[in-house]
Amino acid sequence: MGKLMIVNGSPRAVKSNSKNYIEILKKNINKDIEEYNAISKKIDLFISKLNSCSDLLLVFPLYADGLPVTLMRFLKELENAKLTQKIKVHVLINCGFVEPEQNNVAVEMIKLFCKKNHFDFGSVLRIASGEAILKTPFAFIAKWNIKKLCKSIEKEKQVNIKCTMPISKKTFIKASTNYWIKYGQKNNITKEQMDTMKIEDI
Ligand SMILES: Cc1cc2nc3c(=O)[nH]c(=O)nc-3n(C[C@H](O)[C@H](O)[C@H](O)COP(=O)(O)O)c2cc1C
Repeated sequence: MGKLMIVNGSPRAVKSNSKNYIEILKKNINKDIEEYNAISKKIDLFISKLNSCSDLLLVFPLYADGLPVTLMRFLKELENAKLTQKIKVHVLINCGFVEPEQNNVAVEMIKLFCKKNHFDFGSVLRIASGEAILKTPFAFIAKWNIKKLCKSIEKEKQVNIKCTMPISKKTFIKASTNYWIKYGQKNNITKEQMDTMKIEDI
């Protein structure tokens, strides 16, 4: 069995939640790994490393109910790459909202990509409340599910799992609204400014 290539598909790369999920994953996977940030644009280097791998794990956020443009660009390049062996693609997606199902369409997009380009499709972990969960007492839920994903990749047993914070939608909206108001205050942005569609000159 070859190595696992982990790709961070977030435009926020080193400051991303995806990176935090990758760090947890790296602590739990019993497999040699390679890593790549989709924003780095060193695709030739990436392909040469991918050719020593059997599995590819795409770790990325949900953007506007779809894939971030960094990942789209990366997939386009992957489509044109010359690969010397069969690769199995896995997904760890996280979204801001509280429902893991928000991620379903984006996962289908990756499945379609795999089908079109003759990649095997493996396991999926859909994390919701992904911006917040690791900063709360519910972090253990995300960690536990990441461990399950690691086991499934190691044992070559496909899973499709999901997790979120076990709180009501009402509580989630209240807590997230307070979070973003405070975040705005730190950057001298008021709630009214965040509520408007108007883009002001700075
Ligand atoms: C431009 C943009 C679009 C987003 N669209 C969605 C969305 O459609 N649904 C959702 O649940 N979260 C959405 N989010 C929230 C992100 O998925 C969430 O913050 C995630 O944790 C970001 O992960 P990252 O830090 O790895 O990029 C969006 C965030 C941004 C910046």
